Amino acid sequence: MSTPGAPRSAAAHADQYRIAVSPGIDTDEDHDHGDELGPTGRPYRPVPEPQPLERHGPATVVAVCNQKGGVGKTTSTINLGAALAEYGRRVLLVDLDPQGALSAGLGVAHHDLDETVYNLLVPPHAATDDVLMRTRVDGLDLLPSNIDLSAAEIQLVSEVGREQALARALHPVLDRYDFVLIDCQPSLGLLTVNALACADTVLIPMECEYFSLRGLALLTDTIEKVHDRLNPRLDLGGILVTMFDSRTLHSREVMARVVEVFGDTVYDTVISRTVRFPETSVAGEPITSWAPKSAGAQAYRALAREVIARNSRRT
Ligand SMILES: Nc1ncnc2c1ncn2[C@@H]1O[C@H](COP(=O)(O)OP(=O)(O)O)[C@@H](O)[C@H]1O
Ligand SMILES: [Mg+2]
Repeated sequence: MSTPGAPRSAAAHADQYRIAVSPGIDTDEDHDHGDELGPTGRPYRPVPEPQPLERHGPATVVAVCNQKGGVGKTTSTINLGAALAEYGRRVLLVDLDPQGALSAGLGVAHHDLDETVYNLLVPPHAATDDVLMRTRVDGLDLLPSNIDLSAAEIQLVSEVGREQALARALHPVLDRYDFVLIDCQPSLGLLTVNALACADTVLIPMECEYFSLRGLALLTDTIEKVHDRLNPRLDLGGILVTMFDSRTLHSREVMARVVEVFGDTVYDTVISRTVRFPETSVAGEPITSWAPKSAGAQAYRALAREVIARNSRRT
């Protein structure tokens, strides 16, 4: 059992969760960084250019999870989703936060919706297709939420199989998608456990701040418990450092510590701090379409390539 503030070694994590880091794959010339050191302080690992898919599904389910708020979960869900869709992947985004920021960030007037994820989780269960929405991005669909979802946690407590309510709701549509990204709320409560119980892998966005390290041990403990008790498929996936500022010593020191503790689990792609992201929330669209050439859009495309490469063994 690890204690808060002292996460277990990366080797232990890698061992436990069989973290796959695609070794020795051909490098695409467009993204070849040579021996150049990336923002993680390591050389970039080679990542192949994603190949077009001949058929779609079954989906790899990714829980985007961190019990700390404001670390970039929703931003990463939207923009990774849109970048995966640009690579021809069919993507379903699931808003599992009663704040509905994911839905709002995609321009959905979520307060006015009759049926949301809430209706999928509690009886009488709605049909998943009745809640599903298209977004303005081709290949990117959404299961939206609003404040109704805050009641689900309480109502689910007395249900049999309460941890599997989301898995049951997603099951009928998994074959249609290549990736399902679940935007979790900032807590480790029952909704988040539902996400982990049906996920193949976890993406942990982490703000590049010293105190962010502390919560990670609790999160990895929770992932471990869900892995042992509910979902043996679950692996730790990857840690995505967000809101990085290469000019500050603090950012670089935190980065070095994260890499020291979590090793290869940390994505080579790092998301820098930029006002372009708050702008996109107001615009209600992903950065890949709002500012397609921006560094932020390029970063989420690079993340999409890493995510596709790390999960290719599953498909
Ligand atoms: N890389 C970034 N640089 C600057 N601001 C960001 C970045 N990523 C997210 N933000 C902003 O920070 C706030 C919190 O991000 P959000 O994705 O909603 O976090 P979470 O879902 O973890 O609570 C939002 O206003 C968002 O626009
Ligand atoms: Mg959020």
